[in-house]
Amino acid sequence: ARVAVLISGRGTNLAALLYASRLPDCPYEIVLVASNDPQAGGLAIAEAEGIKTFALSHRGMDRTAHDDAMDAAIRSSGADYVALAGYMRVLGDAMVARWTGRMVNIHPSLLPLYPGLDTHARAIEAGDSHGGATVHLVTSELDNGEPLGRIEVAILRGDTPDTLAERVLFAEHQLYPRALADYVSRSSDPEHLLARVRELAL
Ligand code: GRF
Repeated sequence: ARVAVLISGRGTNLAALLYASRLPDCPYEIVLVASNDPQAGGLAIAEAEGIKTFALSHRGMDRTAHDDAMDAAIRSSGADYVALAGYMRVLGDAMVARWTGRMVNIHPSLLPLYPGLDTHARAIEAGDSHGGATVHLVTSELDNGEPLGRIEVAILRGDTPDTLAERVLFAEHQLYPRALADYVSRSSDPEHLLARVRELAL
């Protein structure tokens, strides 16, 4: 499977996805890294690794026009899946609809707990025993699609949002490549395709 990764920042999840893809038997390859921030650190990683990049600031553009430009870049890369990895723009409904069942995201909480921002502060504040991360399909409702995998991380006494975020990030780097690999293998399985066609026909 060919995957486009969308980022806005330093790109540590992108790096985890990329290096996992270079190990034997990984069922996906990364064909594009695209960002809404031309300064995103992850773009430099992609360039150095010989992966095509695309950057277009969203500033001064309306959401649909920006989504459309990202979509055009993704399509011309030949990607058949999109992985959001710290992409900090909310995608419009039309963009999400075009990639239904083929766009995934990683979110740093145990969804359905704490969609949105400040997940670690909220977990600590609530006195939770664990934080964690979830990989899920993207739907038009923020952080609310079908979960594809999750990983729990114990909250330590004295954890701050930053110390917890740092440990959850290690867990994200383990989870994301595995969940993406499992999903692309599963969704190209003929049984799965047939089930989806039946679902759509209903
Ligand atoms: C990660 O914590 C991810 O879960 C969140 O944004 C962060 C991105 O970090 N959505 P990085 O750019 O992958 O290092």
